[in-house]
Amino acid sequence: MHVLVTGGAGFIGSHLAEHLLEQGHHVSVLDNFATGRRSNIAALGGEVELIEGDIQSYERVNKAVAGCEVVFHLAALPSVPRSVQDPLTSNATNVIGTLNVLLAARDHGVRRVVYASSSSVYGSSSGITPKQENKPTIPISPYATAKLAGEGYARSFHGVYGLETVALRYFNVFGPRQDPTSQYAAVVPNFIGALIAGQPPVIFGDGEQSRDFTYVANIVDANVLAMDAPGVAGRVYNVACGERVTLNRLVGELRELLSSDVEPAYAAPRPGDIKHSLADLSRARTELGYEPSVLLRDGLERTIEYFHAELPHVGRLIGAS
Ligand SMILES: NC(=O)c1ccc[n+]([C@@H]2O[C@H](COP(=O)([O-])OP(=O)(O)OC[C@H]3O[C@@H](n4cnc5c(N)ncnc54)[C@H](O)[C@@H]3O)[C@@H](O)[C@H]2O)c1
Repeated sequence: MHVLVTGGAGFIGSHLAEHLLEQGHHVSVLDNFATGRRSNIAALGGEVELIEGDIQSYERVNKAVAGCEVVFHLAALPSVPRSVQDPLTSNATNVIGTLNVLLAARDHGVRRVVYASSSSVYGSSSGITPKQENKPTIPISPYATAKLAGEGYARSFHGVYGLETVALRYFNVFGPRQDPTSQYAAVVPNFIGALIAGQPPVIFGDGEQSRDFTYVANIVDANVLAMDAPGVAGRVYNVACGERVTLNRLVGELRELLSSDVEPAYAAPRPGDIKHSLADLSRARTELGYEPSVLLRDGLERTIEYFHAELPHVGRLIGAS
């Protein structure tokens, strides 16, 4: 099957593209390398058709989508703090770009679009109780608002044009190839990078905020299931591990795995960050047949292994002596 992965040079997109190649699909990637890397494409170990361009350009998206049966739309500027700093750019990529992808998919008669949404759309809803897809969404950051807009467009394109769309709400993804050096680095690579460099990982808040950390292979599995599952068009699904982990516990696990005695440092909470995030996976289990296969500890071990093997210069990059 000919498939397109937008954002395929990024962290999650490159894992998905790699898996689709292994399954024997013809894989195209559309990326402008805003946050993605050429080395991620080089690491795929297969023939990928690379279309370099910006999803804000309908012309580029149209070229990339032509001839594809399924589109996995992952291209985005994926950071909450980045969206707080620059909401216009975040909106242009995450909303206009998504609209372009859906329009091109409609125009080319694509069978299905699988959209990368985010647990951040739940925002401040429902405290520590597991988030269910039918519960209200109250996004509290520009990023989350843009991701929810993308979901709305995806659902409406199914209703109005009959385009099959499925939105997957990823919960805090981590794994190999995630960038520890960006100023917007996600918490797992950030903490691993700091501990390897012998520096204190910085926790914003008291560390009792919690997340449902999800190893990247689980996200890949959910995307592959969403490509063909029957009766799921126009629907939205949580994709996670289903375990609540505080940042204090995460640091504890990482210190143990890395044999580090470096203590974390605490800083003021960041605006736009939610307090708790835990997924209810019932719908994904029932309708997609999804089950997380790699749990937290195993995922952290694999990620640390990657950092040790691939990024020996990580300490230098983040400023250790
Ligand atoms: N990492 C997470 O924890 C997480 C959680 C929820 C949802 N998501 C979603 O998953 C998707 C992938 O995230 P990721 O963590 O792999 O991030 P990433 O930054 O590694 O990947 C995003 C990719 O999109 C590309 N891109 C950005 N702007 C573009 C543009 N205008 N045109 C073309 N390509 C562009 C980047 O170059 C990059 O390769 C995103 O849609 C993100 O919102 C990620």
